[in-house]
Amino acid sequence: MKIPFKNMNKTKVHAAEKLSILFLLLILIIACEKTNDLPKYNPPADHTISKDGFLHKSGLDQPLTNCVSCHGSDLKGGTTGVSCYECHGKEW
Ligand code: HEC
Ligand code: HEC
Repeated sequence: MKIPFKNMNKTKVHAAEKLSILFLLLILIIACEKTNDLPKYNPPADHTISKDGFLHKSGLDQPLTNCVSCHGSDLKGGTTGVSCYECHGKEW
């Protein structure tokens, strides 16, 4: 009577191990997809307006006045290398 009980326990343990490996794989896949999301930079402290977690400087509706000095006259990067078109189209 002892042996079949032991065997049953072992298969349960194995099933649990397999499940936790699957679970870890799932977490890894989710984590990798997160890093494939939109890029996230380290903007200066005056970038205080969050749009879905991405910090914009105030006056974002008039970028041709407020943002060109750093993001370039065409808003495609300039000295910052961060283009206004890389996360969305023209929103202004
Ligand atoms: C004084 C220079 C300067 C001005 C002016 C400026 N930016 Fe930036 N901005 C930066 C720098 C520097 C970064 C970060 C670059 C990096 O990390 O590689 C940045 C990053 C950003 C990011 C990415 C933030 C994130 O969380 O990923 C956004 C969005 C942005 N700026 C929007 C704007 C808008 C909108 C304006 C105008 C209203 C503006 N910026 C004006 C210097 C500036
Ligand atoms: C790192 C990603 C990223 C960069 C770079 C970026 N934005 Fe955005 N921006 C977003 C997201 C996310 C939203 C909100 C979702 C949307 O509207 O697409 C947004 C929204 C906006 C809006 C709409 C605001 C509203 O709610 O009415 C404007 C205007 C805007 N951004 C301007 C700019 C300008 C100007 C730049 C360049 C200086 C810039 N963005 C660069 C991510 C970014």
